[in-house]
Amino acid sequence: ARLVVLVSGSGTNLQALLDAAADPAYGARIVAVGADRDGIAGLERAEKAGVPTFVHRVKDYALRQDWDAALTGATAAFEPDLIVSAGFMKILGASFMERFAHRIVNTHPALLPSFPGAHGVRDALAYGVKVTGCTVHLVDEGVDTGPIIAQGVVEVADSDHEDGGDALHERIKTVERKLLVEAVGRMAREGYRVEGRRVLIPGQ
Ligand code: GRF
Repeated sequence: ARLVVLVSGSGTNLQALLDAAADPAYGARIVAVGADRDGIAGLERAEKAGVPTFVHRVKDYALRQDWDAALTGATAAFEPDLIVSAGFMKILGASFMERFAHRIVNTHPALLPSFPGAHGVRDALAYGVKVTGCTVHLVDEGVDTGPIIAQGVVEVADSDHEDGGDALHERIKTVERKLLVEAVGRMAREGYRVEGRRVLIPGQ
């Protein structure tokens, strides 16, 4: 399967996918990496792996829908089977959703439906949860509301309240990278279908 991965930051989830895809048995290869900003480690990781990259910044477009169309066109040019949003910090627009409906996988550092949005780790910590974790899900028209593919649990320690969630987020990302690599690999090799709110992957 052909994957396009969208990033906005350090790209450690991307790196995990790049490492997994180095094995032909994984069944997927990353054909391009897209970002909404320049100068991020995620783009350097792609370049180091010899993977083509593209950047489309919202502020370069008069209208948000123009950015959406540009991102959609740039992604479509690589003829992806699956898109993985791995720490991509923009809400995908209508044209992107129409073009790639049911083929966009997102990873979120909380146990959805709890704590959606851009501050899932911080919000879970502030709430005082004893466990949190990460969720791999299909993207739908909402924010972090699509059908869930996989989840992983991470315990919250008292000390996590002392650093604003940084240590907790790193522990979540350790689980998240494994969860994402495994889910994307299975979907790429076995295919999947969506039944209501469930994503069914053969051999699960
Ligand atoms: C991940 O935890 C992702 O769930 C969240 O931002 C983080 C991105 O990390 N949205 P990286 O860029 O993959 O290292």
